[in-house]
Amino acid sequence: MAEHNLQHIDLNDYPHINKGLDGIVAFSTTKSFINGQTGELIYSGYHIDTLADNATFEEVCFLLWNDRLPKNSELEELHKKLQSNRELPEPVLNYIKTTDKNAEPMAVVRSAVSMLADFVDSNSSDLDNAITMTAQIPTIIAAFDRARNEKEIVTPLKDGSTAFNFLYMLNGEEPGQAAERTMDLCLVLHAEHGMNASTFTCRSICSTESDMFSAVTGAIGALKGPLHGGANTAVMNTLLKLKEQGEHADPVVFTKDKLDRKEKIMGFGHRVYKTFDPRAYHLRKMSKDLAEETGHQYLYEWSEAMVKTMKDEKNIDPNVDFFSATVYYSIGIQPDLYTCIFAMSRISGWTAHFFEQKANNRLIRPRALYTGEKNLPWVPAEER
Ligand code: SDX
Repeated sequence: MAEHNLQHIDLNDYPHINKGLDGIVAFSTTKSFINGQTGELIYSGYHIDTLADNATFEEVCFLLWNDRLPKNSELEELHKKLQSNRELPEPVLNYIKTTDKNAEPMAVVRSAVSMLADFVDSNSSDLDNAITMTAQIPTIIAAFDRARNEKEIVTPLKDGSTAFNFLYMLNGEEPGQAAERTMDLCLVLHAEHGMNASTFTCRSICSTESDMFSAVTGAIGALKGPLHGGANTAVMNTLLKLKEQGEHADPVVFTKDKLDRKEKIMGFGHRVYKTFDPRAYHLRKMSKDLAEETGHQYLYEWSEAMVKTMKDEKNIDPNVDFFSATVYYSIGIQPDLYTCIFAMSRISGWTAHFFEQKANNRLIRPRALYTGEKNLPWVPAEER
């Protein structure tokens, strides 16, 4: 129903609710277009396949923030700004070093990003803040992983790409070209995806005229859940659970048993895509190539067996989180960091939506259908 028609209805008695806001169009955006029937994804005019084949993550950041690709000089300038902003404020680094080693990495990223707000110049622009978070989230993730493993924290490089520097800080050694390209492509593929739950959270917080750090902190909290970005870690945990079955491991039986128990299979299904997620094609190819290179073929084969079983049993396809899990596993990243890597990329989309919301803001404030009782008589406490 068009929004203007709702004005004439008493919403207190309005009987129709769209659970999960399914199918509700609440914004217009130039950031991305998704056709869920054909499996098409466009970021600010460019097809995801074109970007996957050609763009770097930094080019995608610029594209999402400006709705156009950067000229050479603009890209160079963005690289310089990101590189010179990578180091964390001392108190944030101290928090990372001293927090519980068993803390959830996404919780640490969320808290650290929230803290960053205290250390920015009060005159810094939203773009400055977007650059600060894009530059510093990788440092937060790598620093926490090193600190919890009692390894020395690696100071970020003042050159190189986001992907290169992240792997360098995480592993303490420079990555090869192939690993850098794998990480960069993962960042490109996760950067933006319309009105997903975390972006909606970001825009809702922005709509109250709150600040960008608050909006991104909320978005990280939303991404953390297993129905959203948390699914990539859950996928890997599922595959590792299957591995525990040793020679008896059978991905088809395993998947069917889960379905029989009405469990959700992580990394499958999507609110918008009713077909194969276009990002998953790229991740599937990477997963296959890397599995062969690193001796994890069995993981790739199990993944494909699960894809076929889900298609046969439920007609449900994999989403972006399914094959990204085995890609990260093959390049040696701990499973509980996968969702953090999603955040490290999606910061570009969140902040782009923040700009867009702020430029044409109206408070986000939907309605709820009241289903409780009305006009109950007051009963004194001693008589209840
Ligand atoms: C991301 O929105 C975005 O764009 C998100 C994202 C992004 O880039 O930002 O693409 C990233 O969050 C990907 C999604 C990651 N989550 C998972 O992989 C978790 C597993 N998937 C699901 O729980 C589910 O598919 C959702 C949460 C992704 C979508 O949920 P919906 O749209 O509310 O669908 P639903 O739960 O109502 O499912 C509809 C039917 C149900 O069957 P019936 O009751 O009608 O018989 O499909 C079944 C569901 O049981 N179903 C699944 C399933 N996903 C849907 N059954 C088993 N396993 C699954 N994974």
